[in-house]
Amino acid sequence: MATQRFCIPTEIVQDVGCFAQLGTVAKRYGERALLVCGRHAMRASGALERAQTLLQQAGMTVCLYDRVSGEPVLALVEEARALARTEQCHVIVGLGGGSAMDVAKAVAGLLPLSGSVAEYHAGRRLEGPGVPFIAVPTTAGTGAEVSNNAVLTDPVRGIKTSIRSDGWYARVALVDPELTLGVPPGVTAASGADALCQAIEAYVSIGAMPITDALCQEAIRLIGRSLRRAYAHGDDLAARSDMLYGSLMAGMSLTTARLGAVHGMAHPLGYRYNIPHGVVCGLLLPYVMAYNADYAVGKYARVAELLGVDARGRNEREMAQHAAESVRELMREIGIPLHLRPFGVSQADWPAIVAESLASSSLRHNPRPFQEADVQAILEEAM
Ligand SMILES: [Fe+2]
Repeated sequence: MATQRFCIPTEIVQDVGCFAQLGTVAKRYGERALLVCGRHAMRASGALERAQTLLQQAGMTVCLYDRVSGEPVLALVEEARALARTEQCHVIVGLGGGSAMDVAKAVAGLLPLSGSVAEYHAGRRLEGPGVPFIAVPTTAGTGAEVSNNAVLTDPVRGIKTSIRSDGWYARVALVDPELTLGVPPGVTAASGADALCQAIEAYVSIGAMPITDALCQEAIRLIGRSLRRAYAHGDDLAARSDMLYGSLMAGMSLTTARLGAVHGMAHPLGYRYNIPHGVVCGLLLPYVMAYNADYAVGKYARVAELLGVDARGRNEREMAQHAAESVRELMREIGIPLHLRPFGVSQADWPAIVAESLASSSLRHNPRPFQEADVQAILEEAM
């Protein structure tokens, strides 16, 4: 096996109420902050106003970019970057779910660079570390606060993919479960499904290592015990804390361990049929787990155990299959659809979906080697 490297340079501040430190943390990096968030949720929850106040109380000037909506397209990053340039911002703060954090991260990374966002998305080499980026997640999902990539869509090329660079990690992640209390059940389900999927895929990945195994097992345990409760009782701070810390640990693992076939297939499907990322991940996960089971029996058996499946009277192989069943049941309970057809997925599109999935680096880290026929087998089963 090749030498492995685990590096998370992000300072993680984690506590109920730690959002209050935003101003003092951001002030370390300069006087002018670009605050990036979505159009509605942060305003409605009061988090936007609080963030502005905290930054201003620290003596900072705040420029607001609040136009992130849906999963981010390149034009959003271009627009926010232009604003950060005009306003001469020193630090970028991402407040929100994965989309807001990804836009903020990309703006910070690309701010000093001369090329267009589209050029870097298409593979132009990224140089330098960018300007400081502070991540404040308000959903428990992508783990973008501790990963080095931003998932962006180019509608012109019809491609949804990551830009990544070791210079793109957040300087500081403020991980405050209180910020996730008001997230509606549908978003809790989709983001939680993504977090669980990332923890499981990073755990069984061929890029896994002992450090990521430890993080992933704890992430699976926390998410497994609290996703149902966070979905049904959004105001349960203990369940929300489990979810946020679980998604954080999955995020810490995936940069090193990488992901698997679910994420390889999720981007082309999500983009083409407008299926939210967490939904398509949760939908595909049990199919891929069952398909992979024989290729990582011990690890999938451990996943089953972590999800509370009773091991008595079951051998390892049976436990591995039960892991997929247990996830299927969990997805059903939190309202994640289990079939692709209702989203308009049609067989005519399969060749393109297969080709785009095979190009994904996630797919190459799946424990079962995936070729064309394997992607097709999952599509067939999940229809
Ligand atoms: Fe994901």
